[in-house]
Amino acid sequence: MADQVKTIGILTSGGDAPGMNAAIRAAARRAIGRGLKVKGIYKGYEGLINEEIKDLGARDVSDIIGRGGTILYTARCPEMRTDEGVAKAVENCKKHGIDGLVVIGGDGSFAGAQKLADRGINAIGVPGTIDLDIGCTEYTIGFDTAVNTAMEAIDKVRDTSTSHERVSIIEVMGRNAGYLALWCGIAAGAEDVLLPEIYDYNEQAIINHIIETRKKGKKHHIIINAEGIGHSQAMAKRIEAATGIGTRATILGHMQRGGSPSCKDRMYATIMGAKAVDLLIEGKTKRVVAFKSGDFVDFDINEALAMTKNISDYEVELAKSLSYNYVIQN
Ligand code: ADP
Ligand code: F6P
Repeated sequence: MADQVKTIGILTSGGDAPGMNAAIRAAARRAIGRGLKVKGIYKGYEGLINEEIKDLGARDVSDIIGRGGTILYTARCPEMRTDEGVAKAVENCKKHGIDGLVVIGGDGSFAGAQKLADRGINAIGVPGTIDLDIGCTEYTIGFDTAVNTAMEAIDKVRDTSTSHERVSIIEVMGRNAGYLALWCGIAAGAEDVLLPEIYDYNEQAIINHIIETRKKGKKHHIIINAEGIGHSQAMAKRIEAATGIGTRATILGHMQRGGSPSCKDRMYATIMGAKAVDLLIEGKTKRVVAFKSGDFVDFDINEALAMTKNISDYEVELAKSLSYNYVIQN
């Protein structure tokens, strides 16, 4: 059990995600409301190591709940992976009186928080990533907004794809995970969805599928390709050569990470940011806030980092059966 915390530090780390600001606001105001001091740590672990740390008051987080990005900025900080970097981060927490740290980010960021907690800095992780690829939680801050942004973009590509009777390969983010691709594929009614978890690189099967749907009179053929598979441009060239049908690749890229957060992201991020502070006030440390089976819960960081989750077989099967018109064979 940690001693009663007095000063909370908040940082965002890894890729930014819509809703991170809502979590910052909630954590800051929850802490201030409980009589604690709050410090904003800028640029993730980089700012902790380089002492980019400023007091954060209740007014400093005004008007940010609806803003995309993160007002604290973020970074990928290789130094934090070294013992020297971690030692410097611990030293700076102590120097600035930070005895409770809220780390908003993904698994990598939690690995940093784990090391700080092991060295005596009370730390709580809050899941923030558009990728939804954190094993211990069914929700991560930013996924809802990003998947809606991508879906709207795909709907637009589909319009032009239909007008030109083309094949469109649309690449969505997600690093090595296919959640964004699968949700977009189902929500946009794509003809094919290529997921890193299951794609077998059988391009001929896709080509046969395009030829078959064209024969049935389909005016477009949307292929959602996950970033974890990539190579969309080269794939488009090969498919065009093999089918004789105009094929274009669109890589949605970083537009998926921006924009004003959805209501769900604002709400869940608010609850998670506040819960992180509540845990610190309760004397807890080395925990990760999560959403599981309809509840906001928390897990030990070591356990959380060891957890895995799988893409839903049922959803994958649905993606196929609803847009392929194919017959399920048992
Ligand atoms: P995410 O947090 O979204 O998974 P990254 O994997 O890029 O994103 O991690 C964010 C940052 O967390 C890294 O740039 C690094 O500073 C820190 N980090 C990642 N892995 C570790 C690790 N094993 N030990 C210490 N710090 C780490
Ligand atoms: O983790 C979020 C994410 O957007 C991934 O989907 C993507 O692989 C990665 O970050 C891109 O990172 P960067 O913005 O550093 O190129």
